[in-house]
Amino acid sequence: MANLDELMFPVFETSGIGSIAEIGAYAGDLTGVLLEWATPRGVSVTAVDPVPQPALVEMAEGSSNLRLERATSIEAIPRMELPDAFIIDGDHNYHTVSEELRLIAEKAGDGPMPLLLFHDVCWPHGRRDSYYAPDRIPDEYRETIAEGVGIAPEEPGLTYGGFPYKWVQEREGGERNGVLTAVEDFLAERDDLELAIVPIFFGFGVSWPREAPYAGALRELLAPWDRNPMLARLEWNRVKSLAQSYVSRTEVAVLRERNWRQEKLLLEIGRSTGLAVTDRLSRFNRNGNPGLRERITDELETSRNEPV
Ligand SMILES: C[S@@+](CC[C@H](N)C(=O)[O-])C[C@H]1O[C@@H](n2cnc3c(N)ncnc32)[C@H](O)[C@@H]1O
Repeated sequence: MANLDELMFPVFETSGIGSIAEIGAYAGDLTGVLLEWATPRGVSVTAVDPVPQPALVEMAEGSSNLRLERATSIEAIPRMELPDAFIIDGDHNYHTVSEELRLIAEKAGDGPMPLLLFHDVCWPHGRRDSYYAPDRIPDEYRETIAEGVGIAPEEPGLTYGGFPYKWVQEREGGERNGVLTAVEDFLAERDDLELAIVPIFFGFGVSWPREAPYAGALRELLAPWDRNPMLARLEWNRVKSLAQSYVSRTEVAVLRERNWRQEKLLLEIGRSTGLAVTDRLSRFNRNGNPGLRERITDELETSRNEPV
C-alpha cells in the first residue's frame, strides 16, 4: 500500500486527522512510511495485526509514536480508542471487512464515522474473498474455499498457474464475496457516507462522512481519480500481465521438469548395451555417418547449452 502514499497523504492532510489505525500491517512497509509522515505532524499511529512480522515488531519497539496491537481487527476494534482514520488492509474477505465496518460504526455511535481507507477494492479481491485463516470465518463461506490454487483476471474460476493463493473463494462475484462488495453493502445502509474508488495498485477506496467539514475539499481532491476509466484500463492491463507472468513461470517450470526427465531417459538409452548394437547397425546403414548413440549425445549436449 506504500505505493499509494502520494495520494494517501493529501487525503489525510485534507481531512486534518490526528490519529490513524492501520488494520493489517504485516512487515510495516506502509507503517514506516506512515510514521515518517505522521510523527512530525503529531499524528499517532496504531498498527493492528495478529501476526506482525519481526520488522514491524522492531519498528514498534523503536518508536514512541507507534502502538502495535497483536490481535485481529475483530478483537482490537472494540477495545481501542476510535482513531480519526482507519486503513483497512487485513483479511481481504466479505465477512471480515463487514465485521470491521460494523464494529467501527458501533464504536462511532451517533458521532461521525472516521475516515476510511481501503486497499484491494479492485481485482483480485474487490469481488473475491481470500482468507488468512479460514477457521476465523463462518461455515457458510468455508464450503467454497479453494486451497493452494491460482486465479487470473477474466477467469471467474480458477486458473492453473495463475496468481497463487493459499485460500481463496473458488469463484469470483456473486453476493457476499469480496472487499468492495462488503463496502458497498455497508454503504447501502448509510446515506451519510461517500465513497471514491481509485482503480490503481489493486484498488484504493476512500469513504468519508458527507457532512464532515472537510468533505467538499476531499471530494474535489479525489474527483479526478475516482473511477477514472484510463487508470482502470492501465490497472487491468497491469494485473493481466502480472497474472500472465505467473502462468508463464509455471509453464516454464513444467517444461523444465519434463525436459529433465526426457534427458535422463535419453542418457539411460545412450548408455544401454542394446543401443550399442543398434548404433553399429545404424552407422553401417548411414555409410559411416554418426550413429544413433552419437546423435543422442550430441542432442543432449546441444540442449544443455541452449539458453532457457
Ligand atoms: C496485505 S498485508 C498488509 C500490508 C500492509 N498494510 C502494507 O501495506 O505494507 C495483510 C496483513 O493482514 C493481517 N491480517 C490478517 N487477518 C487480519 C485480521 N483479521 N485483522 C488484522 N490483520 C489481519 C495479516 O497478518 C497480514 O500481515
